Amino acid sequence: MTATATLEFSVTTSKNRRSDEERARILANPGFGVNFSDHMVGIDWSLERGWYNARVQPYGPLSLDPACSVLHYAQEIFEGLKAYRHADGSVWAFRPQANAARMQRSAERLALPPLPEAEFLESIRQLILVDKAWVPTAPETSLYLRPFTIASERFLGVRAAQHASYYVIGSPAGAYFPKGVAPVSIWVSEHYTRAGRGGTGAAKCGGNYSASLLPQQEAYKQGCSQVLFLDAVHGTYLEELGGMNLFLVRKDGSLLTPSLTGSILEGVTRDSLIQLAKDQGRVVEERQITLEEVQAGMNNGEISEAFACGTAAVITPICSIKGKDFVAGRDDAPAGELTMSLRKALTDIQYGRAADPHGWMMKLA
Ligand code: COI
Repeated sequence: MTATATLEFSVTTSKNRRSDEERARILANPGFGVNFSDHMVGIDWSLERGWYNARVQPYGPLSLDPACSVLHYAQEIFEGLKAYRHADGSVWAFRPQANAARMQRSAERLALPPLPEAEFLESIRQLILVDKAWVPTAPETSLYLRPFTIASERFLGVRAAQHASYYVIGSPAGAYFPKGVAPVSIWVSEHYTRAGRGGTGAAKCGGNYSASLLPQQEAYKQGCSQVLFLDAVHGTYLEELGGMNLFLVRKDGSLLTPSLTGSILEGVTRDSLIQLAKDQGRVVEERQITLEEVQAGMNNGEISEAFACGTAAVITPICSIKGKDFVAGRDDAPAGELTMSLRKALTDIQYGRAADPHGWMMKLA
């Protein structure tokens, strides 16, 4: 049972809301992460007061002191979840409690204050109440919600900040990759790693993503859409992609995905797909997977499909995995059948086209 939020949200509506025509123009072709709804949520925190000043306010720039600690020491965490429009016009979130829980774990790792689950859920509900019209209706579109917490204390000493601010912004979203669900190629970074033992790999913090940008550029130069990181200790085991988890499908229909070793993001989509595959009676193995095994398996047919998954990526088929001196799979390989059927099973639940046996959907408005 979900606790009730104790904070009261004040609501200041925007005087500059986009017109219905302008919003319709944006929603007709939302792209990913480039357009934002008219409002945002903010909640402040201090060591003395705890969480306070919960509000819905017009979307707009933040005013930050140049000495505030997020700008210097990257004390920041974030989440990503989506609000889906159902056929009857209602708007739903997918497993938002899982995002709330992960954000609390990230907060603990980054020495930021954990926002209680009830406040997290209420914050996204409050945003949808004012910006429901920004949840698109076109197939496979949604309003991507980005909750984040920053250390906002004005202080240059290196210690956990005593002031923080939590925000939620909403961004209408279509496919994450420009080519939609067309299969993508992946580049294995053999030089850079994403997370070390005892580091922040399992936390959803900005620093993990900034460290992935240079290897991600390397991937683009090789004509690939995402970088794949190997473990930092042996340089052998698959970890995750720049911004999503990885699955492999064996020719017998079983699934294989890197186990959560503490340096991989505990993806909500990853977890949901494991459940959906098990519901179908499939074997799902979570274990350490060597690059060598993947190269051999993709080339001898033992591994018949591969895909990336995440809130933004949903499920995106992978046609090839490449490195300095190898290519596994083929650039012209079509999307895998099981990949696309899992994608359908997941999105059917998210868009209310199928029953929700695990009670994953939460109605927002
Ligand atoms: C998400 O899938 O929500 C993420 O945060 C990953 C990023 C590539 C947008």
